[in-house]
Amino acid sequence: MKNIAILASGSGSNAENIARYFADNKNINVSVILSNNPRAGVHARANTLGIPSFTFTREEFVEATPILKKLAEYHIDLIVLAGFMNKISEPLLKAFPGKIINIHPALLPKHGGKGMYGMHVHEAVVAAKEKESGITIHYINENYDEGATIFQATCPVEPTDTPEEVANKVHALEYLHFPKVIEKLLTL
Ligand code: GRF
Repeated sequence: MKNIAILASGSGSNAENIARYFADNKNINVSVILSNNPRAGVHARANTLGIPSFTFTREEFVEATPILKKLAEYHIDLIVLAGFMNKISEPLLKAFPGKIINIHPALLPKHGGKGMYGMHVHEAVVAAKEKESGITIHYINENYDEGATIFQATCPVEPTDTPEEVANKVHALEYLHFPKVIEKLLTL
């Protein structure tokens, strides 16, 4: 059995989508959800799905010992960031080399880096008059949005599209591809 930990700070729609995708899989399981935000929507989703979820403070994420303990408790093989707003600290990176992945809602290296999260990304895409946007699934390293790319998918951006419309197209790509990419990584 391969165990996934999902780290999420917000609504958690990707976390739920991934958990549902693997619900009947005998070899891959979403075992635990960790967040830095006790009010994040992802906790309610975890509760409905019957997946344990825990909140850790920013300091605990930086220091990492309590996180590493929790990840060991659930025998975690892969850490999946799905809308996680905290930086991943050195001890976590060292403990899970090549085993932490993130999804970014644009085509990196464009529209990534510090401050580029949530609607800011889609606003930047529209402001730059991009003809396409999409998703980038990538490994995490010590810099924001700079780890090696694993997978990208694109969607068209029309000149009349609002940031919300771009966000909807990008979310559709996330739901379609993120679980499949995770499955592939865990069955290599
Ligand atoms: C997603 O768009 C993801 O790409 C980004 O944060 C968003 C999280 O949305 N990193 P949700 O919490 O999964 O609904």
